[in-house]
Amino acid sequence: MSSENSEARAADPSQTSDDHGGEENIRPGDLSEFVGQSPVVSNLKVYLQAAKNRGEPLDHALFSGMPGLGKTTLSSLIASQMGVNFRATSGPVLEKAKDLVGLLTELEEGDVLFIDEVHRISRVVEEYLYTAMEDFQIDILIDSGPNARSMRIHLPKFTLVAATTREGNLTAPFRARFGIHEKLEPYDVSDLIEILKRSSRILSVPLEPSGAEVLAGRCRGTPRIANRYLRRGRDFAEVEGKESVDGQCAAAALDRLGVDPAGLDAVDRKILEVVARADGAPVGVKTIAVTVGEEERTIEDVHEPFLIRAGYLEKTARGRVLGPAAELGVNTIKNQHREQASLDLEESS
Ligand SMILES: Nc1ncnc2c1ncn2[C@@H]1O[C@H](COP(=O)(O)OP(=O)(O)OP(=O)(O)O)[C@@H](O)[C@H]1O
Ligand SMILES: [Mg+2]
Repeated sequence: MSSENSEARAADPSQTSDDHGGEENIRPGDLSEFVGQSPVVSNLKVYLQAAKNRGEPLDHALFSGMPGLGKTTLSSLIASQMGVNFRATSGPVLEKAKDLVGLLTELEEGDVLFIDEVHRISRVVEEYLYTAMEDFQIDILIDSGPNARSMRIHLPKFTLVAATTREGNLTAPFRARFGIHEKLEPYDVSDLIEILKRSSRILSVPLEPSGAEVLAGRCRGTPRIANRYLRRGRDFAEVEGKESVDGQCAAAALDRLGVDPAGLDAVDRKILEVVARADGAPVGVKTIAVTVGEEERTIEDVHEPFLIRAGYLEKTARGRVLGPAAELGVNTIKNQHREQASLDLEESS
């Protein structure tokens, strides 16, 4: 792993330490190994082929989507498909113009410069990127005061590939400078089963179809989470002296991790609890973050997209309220209480 890569990862809140071990091994190394996302992949294949035929670098590309869906993986696959270097950095690391200039001047013709979490670059860097992306040149200011002068640096033609979990946070002029925009969606269960089968082969973890189904069903459509659960399933199987991860073993491992059959984890449930306690009044994300003890960014980027998508949570202008799926849960619990209470009453009378 290059140091730039590890920098990009370190800035990623959704990547827990156990993802790091062996991550490189299970990350697809060829576009043919990349499972699912067929609309995105088939578009990319066309763009890549066309660029290759013209002998030009690929147009600048922007990938958006929830954490762990494969944005970084796809970006590195672009570089390998084009046969060029992959230089990775991330938004929070690029604070000053000189950080960017350093990177840009090291690029070779056709290289892919990957900026993860691109919504977090500073405005200054963003503005430098405009001319770098459009005209492949940058004007930098040398010296200050009366000696200040600007110097034009010509850059090799490169491809900027950027990834973001929050496309909405990019400014319109910046977004407009990417010729290719692709949004990654959560994977369906059959794709996740394929991904799990592949990872189990690479990690030498025998995985039963029943085990794959349980893991795929609880990983909220996210390959990174699926792979993490596979590792935990393996731990569980090994400790239990089992030969392979079957459904029962996978479920036991996930139960122990606090992941319920719908894929909600302890933090998700805490978030819903905080919102439910407000009894219909919208709750701000700051309040949620403080009560749950997680960073606001983690709540917004990692937990909320899933909760909203699955109908547990709704975002309103004034804050978060429960969605229909959670209301159903709350009502079921209330009804169960009611039923139990009336049963108790019947029994005692
Ligand atoms: N389509 C896929 N097929 C197989 N494995 C995949 C696929 N997509 C992702 N993965 C696996 O999931 C892991 C996470 O993917 P990746 O790091 O590319 O996600 P990401 O979208 O960049 O996430 P983040 O927003 O957190 O940076 C990878 O290590 C890879 O093993
Ligand atoms: Mg990534």
